[in-house]
Amino acid sequence: MERGRGVGETHVLVIPFPVQGHINPMLQFSKRLASKGLKVTLITTTPTNKSKQPQSSSINMEHIPVGLQGEEESLDDYLERFKLIVSPSLVELIGRYNGSEYPARVLVYDSVMSWAQDIVERLSVDGAPFFTQSCAVSTIYYHVNQGALKIPLEGPTVSIPSMPILGVNDLPSFINDTSSYPALWSLIKTQFSNLEKVNWVFFNTFSELEDEVVKWLASERPIKTIGPTIPSMYLDRRLDDDKDYGLSLFKQNAEACITWLDTKDTGSVIYVSFGSLASLGEEQMEELAWGLKRSNSQFLWVVRELEKKKLPSNFVEETSEKGLVVSWCPQLEVLAHKAVGCFMTHCGWNSTLEALSLGVPMVAMPQWTDQTTNAKFVEDVWGVGVRVKVGENGIVKREEIKECIREVMEGERGNVMQRNAQRWKELAKEAVNEGGSSDNNIEEFVARLVCS
Ligand code: UDX
Repeated sequence: MERGRGVGETHVLVIPFPVQGHINPMLQFSKRLASKGLKVTLITTTPTNKSKQPQSSSINMEHIPVGLQGEEESLDDYLERFKLIVSPSLVELIGRYNGSEYPARVLVYDSVMSWAQDIVERLSVDGAPFFTQSCAVSTIYYHVNQGALKIPLEGPTVSIPSMPILGVNDLPSFINDTSSYPALWSLIKTQFSNLEKVNWVFFNTFSELEDEVVKWLASERPIKTIGPTIPSMYLDRRLDDDKDYGLSLFKQNAEACITWLDTKDTGSVIYVSFGSLASLGEEQMEELAWGLKRSNSQFLWVVRELEKKKLPSNFVEETSEKGLVVSWCPQLEVLAHKAVGCFMTHCGWNSTLEALSLGVPMVAMPQWTDQTTNAKFVEDVWGVGVRVKVGENGIVKREEIKECIREVMEGERGNVMQRNAQRWKELAKEAVNEGGSSDNNIEEFVARLVCS
């Protein structure tokens, strides 16, 4: 293919897997690459309409119509359908661009789509996987993939280079249970299958946050930390950026949330959300609801539309003076709001990074997948939260929820967490601003594309 093109003619394609926690960071990364002058095309696979398009017009959009997983469709079937539709469409799309004045130079693909590497290779385009989970979590999986961490585990703790000693409950949930979600487990393992063929492996993290583990993995693979991928207006107050990521898969009433928060005192509200996928059992939902009420704090709670039926009857009415329950909210704006003093979170990687980058301490209530490991780091490594203790039958009781909230909102330990959170916010800002570690990595990537 043709080399040595100018920066504006160097074309990068980006394709996320269609779940919110993968779309957000890859969309934001696309915008960041575009801000460096590259031509960037984001490929969506879920239905979008005009109002859901990113407000910024800096990136080009392409659509491959796959849609979301159907209600009756198994994940295995969906993944197969996804690959069957996306593979030939990618070949067609790249072929089309290669016959134009903007040939594709690199395809940045979601790390769970490692098969995309085989496609781009045949078309003489570079491939670069993008990992949407933390470097620590991905490194644990890498050790499994390399046979250095044996499953089933042989003891109650594991020792992994560059990480603290981890107990079984600190490991990603799949390590303790590889059979309940065979399709997901297989996706996770195949993330590493093509890494020896690529020049860049992108991670949505920043090196100061995961210093040792980033260094360790970088000694094995060409990893580049480029995060946190949140709109820069939250980190350096540049106003030429979007307030939101854009491309939301959920409907929200942003104004209602912000107007409600505007009436509250600084640091007085606990924001509660379990992300886009986790589903709490009915008993857990009830304990959480009454725990929030008992904490006596004001709360903004995101309960997705399909989960609402699990709320205790009358809860919304009974707590309407203290709380607001919504089905989705503009999370970045909420976390950046001065009224929010604590984030009760499932510790999805985006939520964790967003809270760290916006200086909000957390109550960590992990559910599954990478969230358990993120919760361990939130509490013990970064010192920005407390992790709830899980009681009998795997349920976190209302009293425990109340105590954890109090500890973060009112306790002396809460003040320390608050200070630590502010320090991480500063470091996140430095990483993405000009000359910071993540910014340098992006600059280096762009320079290498333009020079080669
Ligand atoms: C999960 C994982 O736990 C994550 O680590 C993994 O890589 C993808 O699957 P999810 O459960 O959706 O993702 O959580 P999270 O990673 O926190 O992503 C949720 C995203 O949705 C965040 O960017 C958050 O800002 C946004 N969000 C959430 C909203 O905009 N509004 C809401 O009301 C809730």
